[in-house]
Amino acid sequence: MTGNEVTTDSLLWWQRGIVYQIYPRSFQDTDGDGVGDLPGVTARLDYLASLNIDAVWLSPIFTSPMKDFGYDVADYEDVDPLFGTLADFDELLSQAHARGLKVMLDLVPNHSSDQHPWFQEARRSRDNSKRDWYIWRDPAPGGGPPNNWLSFFGGRAWTFDPHSNQYYLHQFLPEQPELNWANPEVRAALLGAMRFWLARGVDGFRVDVIWLLGKHGDFLDEPANEEWREGHFEHGQLSHIYTQDLPETHAYIREMRAVLDEFSVPGQERMMVGEIYLPLEKLVTYYGSEVGAECHLPFNFLLLTLQEWSAGTVRDLARRYDEAVREYGGWPNWVLGNHDQHRFKSKYGAAHYRLAQTLLLTLRGTPTVYYGDEIGMQNVEVPRERQRDPSGLQQSDNPNASRDPERTPMQWDASPFAGFSSVEPWLPLAPDYERVNVSVQDADPHSDLHYFRRLTALRRATPELYGGDFLPLPEGGNDVFAFVRAHEGGRVMVLLNFSSRAVVLDLSAHASQARDGGHTGEVLLSSLERGGDVELAALSLEAHEALIVRLIPNLVSLP
Ligand code: NOJ
Repeated sequence: MTGNEVTTDSLLWWQRGIVYQIYPRSFQDTDGDGVGDLPGVTARLDYLASLNIDAVWLSPIFTSPMKDFGYDVADYEDVDPLFGTLADFDELLSQAHARGLKVMLDLVPNHSSDQHPWFQEARRSRDNSKRDWYIWRDPAPGGGPPNNWLSFFGGRAWTFDPHSNQYYLHQFLPEQPELNWANPEVRAALLGAMRFWLARGVDGFRVDVIWLLGKHGDFLDEPANEEWREGHFEHGQLSHIYTQDLPETHAYIREMRAVLDEFSVPGQERMMVGEIYLPLEKLVTYYGSEVGAECHLPFNFLLLTLQEWSAGTVRDLARRYDEAVREYGGWPNWVLGNHDQHRFKSKYGAAHYRLAQTLLLTLRGTPTVYYGDEIGMQNVEVPRERQRDPSGLQQSDNPNASRDPERTPMQWDASPFAGFSSVEPWLPLAPDYERVNVSVQDADPHSDLHYFRRLTALRRATPELYGGDFLPLPEGGNDVFAFVRAHEGGRVMVLLNFSSRAVVLDLSAHASQARDGGHTGEVLLSSLERGGDVELAALSLEAHEALIVRLIPNLVSLP
């Protein structure tokens, strides 16, 4: 584990940097099939470098029947032809590295595709040598599934195999059978796949549903979740004590971590981000323990699962998270969007867009940005006949179950298919793409894209922002979330006005008097593009304004 008693010089790339998530199907199509591909990503590397990001995470690119768009892997050591070839990947990697960009892959170790040769073997007979690579159980006495476990995509987590008269486990689609991580051969195979990509030069992995790897060996029914209400996701009906966050999962992750460590050398550290939806106290345990290190970054989804978007709730959770991570000796991280969550601009409203972006890029810890959020892409309403996401299609009674709205093609320009493709894309384009696109925003210095670049450039150039301590301030109540990022003598204050009215704050308590008797700060960035100095004793913020201010060095007294 990496402690946080660091100097900014000792920070590693994945601590100091910004990660950018690409959903390859939707980034850039080069072969005219309406689906994005690896050469498309390579073609856009200069754009990516212009965003001042440091690493690219590619959602799954391995061979797959695409029932869950690559989260159903049929070969862990090859690229799906839809996306290109291994040679295309090598080219992408070397061109990214040449631009100083790291590349992370999405590893899906919890389940394979039902078309994976391992599962094809396993389902042949009960005594097949691969049988135990998956999780098979007899029907319950009297028939039916062996227990009450549920799939995240609706319905039971068990599918009956008439050929062998047993059920197999899948917490997603029936086409995504769960691998049996209790079997050392399975672990060796997946660790082997990691080595395959690490030897090719990948810098790290985002590991899919890492907190689900272990399952309790007794296969008992899971108890009802008392907090579940009608209208919530069906999967939440149960309290997942036998399928999530089991002690053996930590041991499995330590094995994965050891593989990354094998390939890490100073300056070329390899890392993993674990996908984990758990409460804070559990989340931090995935950094590891005295027994051994685990995830470099257990993904922090607190902003994605937030019940109420307000200065008070965000202050409270940022404070709790920062404290918990610090106590654990881990490095924090933040994320506002991904391919499973609705776009934050749609969720929080356009007025909050720059404020949210500023929050993500100024909190302490590694930010992960979802493709298109830098130009303010929004959810796209996808008509029934064009919906593709199996989660949405299987749970059609739940309007929030589809992830298509946040997976639509990147909006590059105003041409017929938005510069994404030469044909109609696999998902519809946003209706506003002729206005909201990279080309239009590139030409407009006041655009969201330029705001994003100013923010990322400021972060990169400011040790307080990429490495400093985080000190939330009480002023601002439920209207303004204000915090200081402090590093050595430097202090940078971030002010985020969540309210829809102008607010005046007295923050002079956080700065000692300047020579002229005032308490001034220098504006580094404002979402409303104002500059100059501000008076901390009566600092006014416009509605929804985000402001980053440098406090006069050495004249500051903070607790
Ligand atoms: C989490 C991924 O983010 C999601 O897109 C996928 O459907 C499930 N895991 C299953 O792999």
